[in-house]
Amino acid sequence: MSATVILGLAWGDEGKGRVCDALAADARYVARYSGGNNAGHTIRVGKEEFVVHLIPSGIVRAGVLCTIGNGVVVNPEVLAEEVEELESRGIEVRGRLKVDGRAHLILPYHTQLDGYREKALGKAKIGTTNRGIGPTYEDKIARVGIRVQDVFDEGILRQKLEAALREKNSAIVNVYGEEPYTADELVSYLLSFRELLEPMVADTGGLLRDALGREEPVLLEGAQATLLDNDFGTYPFVTSSNPSAGGACVGAGIPPTLLDEVIGVTKAYTTRVGDGPFPTELFDETGEILRRVGNEYGATTGRPRRCGWLDLVAVKFSASVNGINGLALTMLDVLSAVEEIKVCVGYEIDGKRVDGFPMHQTDLHHACPVHETFPGWGVDVTGCRRREELPEEARDFVGFVEAELGAPLRMISVGPERDQAIVERVKA
Ligand code: GDP
Ligand code: IMO
Ligand code: MG
Repeated sequence: MSATVILGLAWGDEGKGRVCDALAADARYVARYSGGNNAGHTIRVGKEEFVVHLIPSGIVRAGVLCTIGNGVVVNPEVLAEEVEELESRGIEVRGRLKVDGRAHLILPYHTQLDGYREKALGKAKIGTTNRGIGPTYEDKIARVGIRVQDVFDEGILRQKLEAALREKNSAIVNVYGEEPYTADELVSYLLSFRELLEPMVADTGGLLRDALGREEPVLLEGAQATLLDNDFGTYPFVTSSNPSAGGACVGAGIPPTLLDEVIGVTKAYTTRVGDGPFPTELFDETGEILRRVGNEYGATTGRPRRCGWLDLVAVKFSASVNGINGLALTMLDVLSAVEEIKVCVGYEIDGKRVDGFPMHQTDLHHACPVHETFPGWGVDVTGCRRREELPEEARDFVGFVEAELGAPLRMISVGPERDQAIVERVKA
């Protein structure tokens, strides 16, 4: 048995949560492998809406076991709140959730430094979610991070915090003029999460590898997306992890030989929240319509999402980086609200036509989209459950996207509800 990865092909919020929820119906495990509570994944079940930031979307499906992998950064306060909230809504969490002992912890100074740094960047800010993600990954790479397992060895925890604070406090006090942290306060802060964490801590990669060995299906749930990937995204306007398929192996502890299906998720248009280049962004009434009809407001920060036409140049690049062999197209219903639909099939950069996604940041900033136009369908498609039931114009649009991305559609979603989807084919 091999694992399936579900990941975003654009700048996040493609609907990964709902796609994961649909495929989790047949899964035993759902694992997060990157990012932290910068994610906001929405699952709608009837009148109930769940938004998870750190815990995998699979938690909403009874009987599914969930893991937070070594590649994720964990804010223990958010973990505690999310467990509480889900359990108060009748979802059993504690018995079904494991957190990797190698995962790094987001500490209060990480969140503080995230905010300071953004302020210092001024107009060049990244537009982060201000959740301390970047500073936590920096510490991981710099080998001064605090890991989940450290909470269980007070002596080591104190030593590591003292070492980390020498540098952190110097920045906090001398650069930002704020009060320093003491190792004592952070030790007691972290020890207060021991009880919550103790039954959850596990070698989650080992659990997943064993499960695959027993032929149990495993889903790896991407957070953020390929164009926010620290290596392949629109750097520096990216996140600090690798949400792409390669990151799934490292962040979940699964070898590449145990990965056989990569499902790329894209909206039928494109959105971005935060700063950075976005060649197909619309500043007109159509952009407003997409935002209003698609309810395009960040699930984590509530910020209005920037909206634009589907950027096939960018999404094709993502499809290639991830080697997708399955596709999920979401928000098709939102396009019912526009008369005519455009898809970006190339860029014009400084007067030259370019078909591929540029590697150079300057080129991307200069890129103007070259569009292909499709007639709209103008009717409600939320009731369609088979591809044949879609209006001809919608079928043509969907077929075009599928052919361009070169991967078969596993799912087309036509509304936010769990059942508002066309599920195309089961795993080969
Ligand atoms: P994620 O971060 O990729 O999981 O996506 P988000 O949850 O941040 O954003 C997706 C939003 O679109 C959520 O509010 C979903 O409820 C909603 N959504 C998902 N699929 C569809 C769809 O097919 N149609 C509509 N109208 N909304 C959808
Ligand atoms: P999901 O999983 C959309 C964006 C931020 C910012 C950049 C860096 O819900 O798709 P960070 O806080 O990670 O340092 O911010 O990345 N960003 C997201 N945008 N969806 C997300 O997650 C995002 N996670 C981070 O807005 O531009
Ligand atoms: Mg989201």
